[in-house]
Amino acid sequence: MLKVAFVGCGGIQGVHCTNLSRNPEVGIVGHCDIEPARAEAAAARYGGESFTDFNAMFDKTKPHAAFISVPPYAHCGMEEAAAERGIHLFIEKPVALTRDTAQRIAAAIRRSRIICSVGYCFRYYETVATARKELKGRPIALATGYWRGGLQDASWWRKLDKSGGQLHEQSTHIFDLLRYLCGEVKEVHAIGSTGCMSHVTDYDIHDSSVVSLRFKNGASGAVFSSCVNGNHRAAGVNIVCPDLELALKEGKLILREGERTTKIRSTLDCFEEEARVFIDAVKTQKQNRIRSTYSDAVKSLLVTLAANESMRSGMPVKP
Ligand SMILES: NC(=O)c1ccc[n+]([C@@H]2O[C@H](COP(=O)([O-])OP(=O)(O)OC[C@H]3O[C@@H](n4cnc5c(N)ncnc54)[C@H](O)[C@@H]3O)[C@@H](O)[C@H]2O)c1
Repeated sequence: MLKVAFVGCGGIQGVHCTNLSRNPEVGIVGHCDIEPARAEAAAARYGGESFTDFNAMFDKTKPHAAFISVPPYAHCGMEEAAAERGIHLFIEKPVALTRDTAQRIAAAIRRSRIICSVGYCFRYYETVATARKELKGRPIALATGYWRGGLQDASWWRKLDKSGGQLHEQSTHIFDLLRYLCGEVKEVHAIGSTGCMSHVTDYDIHDSSVVSLRFKNGASGAVFSSCVNGNHRAAGVNIVCPDLELALKEGKLILREGERTTKIRSTLDCFEEEARVFIDAVKTQKQNRIRSTYSDAVKSLLVTLAANESMRSGMPVKP
């Protein structure tokens, strides 16, 4: 039985707990949250004990693996505490709010040699694997992505010093997907706008943003984000090559090559799949099927930090 504990008992933890509780080889042993009622509710629903201190939870329940699902600003030592104890980690994206925090955690993970997977769940769609195969060896001309939707409920999401803003917290999936499909980003130049959300209290993030991307392979790109319309959510990427156009919208893929259009729909749940792959990696001690490692996720973090810096300065920034 593989013992799993959780730090952060909010929305996404419920998804991971539900998926893991279906796996007979996993035993859920602990839930830690700074809000005791949240940890207690998770323990009552999924089994295990509740805690408000992650060190106490790790020492008492001795898990083999831990899922870290705290907001970007709240990575305050839980990864290092787990790594020191040899506890393998699944960490939600974005991995931190700042470069320093991410680099400190990356060093602890490297030193301990634990297995670590990051929750860039889109990478687990079969359609994303198909898109990567189609793009292999082709020159890429243009790669764009978008995330449009509404405000998240959590109060931290609306504060720049807690979430890093929409592009850092949410569109990070799109920046990561573009890196996964098209390669590394060399430079970003960004603008952001405000003014449509003045009715929202305790809100200081941009309503919308456009981030121009220059890829190392020469391709041009952009990511468009907006959080002003909660009635309609859309997230995806569009990639243009000389003989191929490819559109990924969450799990759906459309390929247009000459006169031929192919539509493919992913059959698996990407959250279920990323958790299954992580648990298998811990069980077998083989990491090769993990699609988002910590050090790779830090590269996506550096791109959105550069975009935020560019919005502040008005200048192009290298990640
Ligand atoms: N992969 C995805 O698609 C996906 C989806 C949703 C959220 N997320 C990510 O997961 C993270 C959490 O998001 P959420 O929507 O679950 O947020 P949430 O606000 O619903 O839950 C976060 C929980 O963490 C707790 N917390 C804060 N600081 C803590 C600390 N020091 N120790 C223990 N618990 C602490 C809070 O009290 C809260 O209960 C974010 O980074 C978010 O980007 C990823």
